[in-house]
Amino acid sequence: MDLKEIMEIDSRYYMNTFGRRTPVCFEYGQGIFLYDSDGRKYYDFLSGIAVNALGHAHPALVEAVCSQARKLIHCSSLYYIGSQAKLAKMLAEVSCADRVFFCNSGAEANEGAIKLARIYFKKKGMPGKYGIITLKDSFHGRTLATVAATGQEKYQKPYEPLMPGFRHVQPNDIGALEKAIDDTTCAVMLELVQGESGVHPMDKEYVQAVRRLCDEKGLLLMIDEIQTGMGRTGKLFAYEHYGVEPDIFTLAKALAGGVPIGALCAKESVAGAFEPGDHGSTFGGNPLACSAGLAVLRTMLDEKLPENAEKMGSYLMGELERLSEKHRIISGVRGLGLMTGIQLAQDKAVEVKNRLFGRGFLVGSVGTSVIRLLPPLIVTRDDIDNFVRTLDEVLASL
Ligand SMILES: Cc1ncc(COP(=O)(O)O)c(C=O)c1O
Repeated sequence: MDLKEIMEIDSRYYMNTFGRRTPVCFEYGQGIFLYDSDGRKYYDFLSGIAVNALGHAHPALVEAVCSQARKLIHCSSLYYIGSQAKLAKMLAEVSCADRVFFCNSGAEANEGAIKLARIYFKKKGMPGKYGIITLKDSFHGRTLATVAATGQEKYQKPYEPLMPGFRHVQPNDIGALEKAIDDTTCAVMLELVQGESGVHPMDKEYVQAVRRLCDEKGLLLMIDEIQTGMGRTGKLFAYEHYGVEPDIFTLAKALAGGVPIGALCAKESVAGAFEPGDHGSTFGGNPLACSAGLAVLRTMLDEKLPENAEKMGSYLMGELERLSEKHRIISGVRGLGLMTGIQLAQDKAVEVKNRLFGRGFLVGSVGTSVIRLLPPLIVTRDDIDNFVRTLDEVLASL
């Protein structure tokens, strides 16, 4: 099937949810590169939106998936699963969590977090405490509860009435958060870098003040690490930059390098609220996904990929800042580790993205004026130099 045929079939049969405008179909990948159906090569500076942390076709991940697929893809979490137990143990050992539950996506992990917060207070004899405060401009997923949690009207309006129990406050404003807390509040949920609204890192003092406030008021702090987790920001988990520990955090995206998985991670005192029958998932934590997750986490630690993300992230930031002095259209560069946003002074993000695509570079755009970069954590200085040189040419050509 050639590209034209695929596009025709897609537009006839696939639900029109993505508004695909880039005429490309990728056939395979290797390291930071993707190759399309005409054999053309692209630098992947988006990683499937922060998923392919090891790049494409990393031998450790390919070997883990292939050998597990030959043995057992799925059984059921009704039975013990070796790789599930091992991945849960490993995640607990490298994080502040004591227990883990696996599901299949980020939204599902956040649904689990919301359910855990509610049941925790219910089982403590406080059924009136169910409210969760999240931030404006946040993104927590596409299910009904996570759409209600998400602080962006465009994701909510079409699905009203929304699930009750969510309030949204201005980020980095501790007074606004304090004011929003009432007798029904059970938790605060936040991203430490808001990715989907244009890469906005939270202030350290704010996050520490949120932790203190949660402690004072007896609320749970839930951190959505779905995009920031697994080394993306230069530490295995973004909360490590902030000197706080959440009671609950969620993972997905890079956790199994592209094999669907999500994880709900919690401290023992909170996780204990779940008893048999309270929560579940058919596919969640199956042998295939967990073997992939183990391969990703081991590789990440062995190859020191969070450290590479920190080094390459600050190198990229420095190069982009240098570029911003030459091209006035760049009005700011922000981010943490390899989660980078380039703010443009004009509504040209889509045009810049398309021109980069024409030159063999995949990047993301947010709204009309932010370019988003999420390269794999294996990215090198040479890759960054090639990208920055090409961006320089693209901006000069506008
Ligand atoms: C911070 C955050 N939370 C939740 C989600 C939802 O994850 P998923 O698309 O796997 O459901 C995303 C996805 O972009 C995200 O960035």
